[in-house]
Amino acid sequence: MASASARGAWKSRLGFILAAAGSAIGLGNIWRFPYVVGENGGAAFVLIYLGFVFLIGAPVMISELALGRRTERNPVGAFASLAPGSLWQFVGLLGVITGVGILSFYGVVAGWTVGYFFKTVGGTFNRPMSAEETAAIFSGFVSNWMVACGLLLTFLVLTALIVWRGVSDGIEFMSKILMPILLLLLIVLAARSVTLSGAGPGLRFYLAPDFSKITPQTFPTALGQAFFSLSLGMGAMITYGSYIGKRDNLVSAAGMVCLFDTMIALLAGLIIFPALFHAGLDPASGVGLVFQVLPPLFATLPAGQLFGAAFFLLLTIAALTSTISLLEVPVSYLIDEFKWSRGKAVLVTSLGTLLLGLPSALAFGAVDFFSALPGVGLDFLSLMNIIFGNYSLSLGSLLLAVFVGYRWGVAGAAEEIEQEGVRFGLRPAWAFLIRFLCPVAVAVIIVYIVLTGNYF
Ligand code: PHE
Repeated sequence: MASASARGAWKSRLGFILAAAGSAIGLGNIWRFPYVVGENGGAAFVLIYLGFVFLIGAPVMISELALGRRTERNPVGAFASLAPGSLWQFVGLLGVITGVGILSFYGVVAGWTVGYFFKTVGGTFNRPMSAEETAAIFSGFVSNWMVACGLLLTFLVLTALIVWRGVSDGIEFMSKILMPILLLLLIVLAARSVTLSGAGPGLRFYLAPDFSKITPQTFPTALGQAFFSLSLGMGAMITYGSYIGKRDNLVSAAGMVCLFDTMIALLAGLIIFPALFHAGLDPASGVGLVFQVLPPLFATLPAGQLFGAAFFLLLTIAALTSTISLLEVPVSYLIDEFKWSRGKAVLVTSLGTLLLGLPSALAFGAVDFFSALPGVGLDFLSLMNIIFGNYSLSLGSLLLAVFVGYRWGVAGAAEEIEQEGVRFGLRPAWAFLIRFLCPVAVAVIIVYIVLTGNYF
């Protein structure tokens, strides 16, 4: 364990689970999940998503953690140390690039969350509002280039400061104390939302599957959402796994993270859809959905302003525990492979991410070109979100499954998982899923999309 502690290690087993859950739980659950469910027809999408989380996401998470702990390296080093001199390290490199790509637009949305915290504290939402009014407030806010870029910068600086201090100090503390409070707040909000007048159609949309709403796009989007929400396919879990002790049970940790993460996403949906139908908004409103639906919901609660402020603050922190894991991947790569100091690695990656993030920050009315990319019909942020958040993570997970299933081999991975007498009862099921179901299902979806050209 000498090398693990030199690189930093978790203080406790609980600390690790909370940190991994902190990476998984974030804007992916509360911002992204509801809007992709809304755009993709509701309950049928949710069912497919759940299937992907448990049949594909969970086995991939176990594999990433095992690979990280076995090699005690960043994603590039992890592949390189088990398959020296091969092309496999490019899978790790894809992860490093994807981390920067995701962080660039994630930071923009996290910045909006910070902005909404201040708006709520300032009393903007203290009176009842129509759907048109909240939509107008949102578009006025995101189209202001100075605000959007300033908030992106603020958020990246926060992330950089924590990553610079090293893994355990920054991350464990925040996850341990604040995530349970967020969960509590979500439960209260869900209880309020489902008892609103007109909640029925929202619940039906969200919970009663209408399979005629499934399109070819449903599958890559649900798959991408599963990987995105669980932080898989770009090495975040490889990196976090590299800091876990040999006696910890990776399988139960992965199981708990998948369960927590799914619970939070499902709760977010339970909050958004009844409130959305109550307010008469369109479920397919896109990236602004939660920012338009939630403020009027807070206004219906006693002490709604306090509630709203607490919510946006905790969401900011949930986003921060995810951005930390995104930044940690390129940073640990530069430290391990190029012997950079942590400070230099953090500074260079954050600056690069900021530059890449600016077009996303300007994509909602500030600059017309980025707001509707010619020939694509999407704004820049949504394009980045689809390329990195769906396709890049899916490709990364596919290659990881092939690597663990065939190159490292399920026997080698299982041996790592079963260290120090840990029992792995689900080993045959996991081996089947990682060798056959994961690669085949993900490959079929990607090939189908490429053949039909239905990328977006
Ligand atoms: N899982 C995080 C979320 O749901 C986002 C993320 C994706 C973090 C990939 C790390 C890696 O918000």
